[in-house]
Amino acid sequence: MGFLDEIKRRRTFGIVSHPDAGKTTLTEKLLLFGGAIRVAGAVKSNKIKKGATSDFMEIERQRGISVATSVMGFEYRDYKVNILDTPGHQDFQEDTFRTLTAVDSVIIVIDAAKGVEAQTEKLMNVCRMRKTPVIVFINKMDRPTQDSFELLDEIENQLQIKTRPLSWPINNGPDFKGVYNIYNKSLRLFEANVQEINPGIDFEDVNSPELEQYIGDDADVLREELELVEGVYPEFDHQEYLKGNLAPVFFGSALYSFGVQELLDAFVEIAPSPRPSMTEEREVKPEENEFSGFIFKIHANIDPNHRSRIAFVKICSGKFERNKPYKHIRSGKAIRISSPTAFMASQREIVDEAYPGDIIGVPDSGNLVIGDSITSGEDIHFKGLPSFSPEMFRYIENADPMKSKQLAKGVDQLMDEGVAQLFTNQFNGRKIIGTVGQLQFEVIEYRLLHEYGAKCRFENLPMHKACWIECNNPKTLSEFKKRKHQKMAVDKRGRDVFMADSSFILQMAQDEFKDIKFHFTSEF
Ligand code: G4P
Repeated sequence: MGFLDEIKRRRTFGIVSHPDAGKTTLTEKLLLFGGAIRVAGAVKSNKIKKGATSDFMEIERQRGISVATSVMGFEYRDYKVNILDTPGHQDFQEDTFRTLTAVDSVIIVIDAAKGVEAQTEKLMNVCRMRKTPVIVFINKMDRPTQDSFELLDEIENQLQIKTRPLSWPINNGPDFKGVYNIYNKSLRLFEANVQEINPGIDFEDVNSPELEQYIGDDADVLREELELVEGVYPEFDHQEYLKGNLAPVFFGSALYSFGVQELLDAFVEIAPSPRPSMTEEREVKPEENEFSGFIFKIHANIDPNHRSRIAFVKICSGKFERNKPYKHIRSGKAIRISSPTAFMASQREIVDEAYPGDIIGVPDSGNLVIGDSITSGEDIHFKGLPSFSPEMFRYIENADPMKSKQLAKGVDQLMDEGVAQLFTNQFNGRKIIGTVGQLQFEVIEYRLLHEYGAKCRFENLPMHKACWIECNNPKTLSEFKKRKHQKMAVDKRGRDVFMADSSFILQMAQDEFKDIKFHFTSEF
């Protein structure tokens, strides 16, 4: 198969949802239909099995939230599908946002009873900013739900995106009968507790009296509702979807494997193949000859027996080849990747080559950081990996004087992973950890202990916000730093950060020092 065909057949996407809407269940069912796993339950039981050997996963198991982001690739029909999993918990949203920079499209899972939830809105905002095409999967139709038209209205209003149903539910809850697939005109009847997937029934014409044989009196309701759908929603416009303006909607029940096949079949056909990526210098197209990619995630200690880290590289252009000399742009050094891994479902294997859209895992001993670019061509710097102003702060102290080295190393590596941000107060030299959520502190404490044998103690630091400051005028900058010397810190890369006690103080500083730019997100 040619290089261009390899690119065209790739579908790299993320599944996102508010916690509990069914992201994990849907991911698992997609793997099942994709033939990547044999039995349902494999994803979850795999998680638990890992939890027994990896302490990090133990947290995930205990709390029932997905902390880690992982990649699962599989072949389906003529397509190579790469699913990038994201943590659902909001305290790890930075990780999710970074992962969304590596996907070409997104499936948003919504709980049909709960509708659009807080986390769904935030995630959609990121997709909108990046113009990522989204498909909506309305899940849990086997339970009593909101009215389908109202749900679609809610999605349009709250997620600010036009919708177009491509399947339509026949009733819901205990009376749920199935879905009519508008996309390929077939009927699929719902059966709870089936292991085998029943094939759909081709059903071109819903006005045929045969429909009654399958769904009885619900046939009339379905006909009416479909007529309404066709009346209200313009025909599905593929281009509008690809531009991120229109979300096709599917209904189903992930738990009962229902509506998932429809979703997957339509997904591979309509979802985009790898899209161009932005760098500081120019747009990079996947079909370019030179290889390029960037690191969107680092994961340390996946295997507690090997103290190595894995950097997740998204390939943006050209063909990746094992052992070829590439350039690591930040250090300017050559890098030869001798054992890159591909993530095929739950297995990992060494690969000799990979294509745009693929994610490879690169073993690393501490040279790579999130946001780094690697190329075989000219120097380019991939953009768009955000780092947000943290809003919770704590001093971190060593609680075991015998383990200060371990603590320093652990903190260093966890920050490289992007678990939280580290600042050093310039006035007193104390280390400050900044996060967006409480849970991150717990993860840090737990991982320091279990992965590095280090004990830490946190001391609360009531603070409003940390923001990066920038100024073209060195005199103003030094004046500001002098005045605020007790509140000045540097981040891990040595950039100036102002720690504002309150929104009032921040506002005063902004009013007084108009030449200074206060940044609330920093791109790596
Ligand atoms: P998440 O990753 O988005 O957080 O959600 P997850 O898939 O873990 O699903 C959350 C809960 O919702 C799970 O139940 C799951 O079984 C259930 N669920 C998912 N899809 C459906 C569906 O289509 N219909 C119904 N009725 N339930 C669904 P749980 O009791 O929290 O976990 P478990 O013990 O069953 O695994």
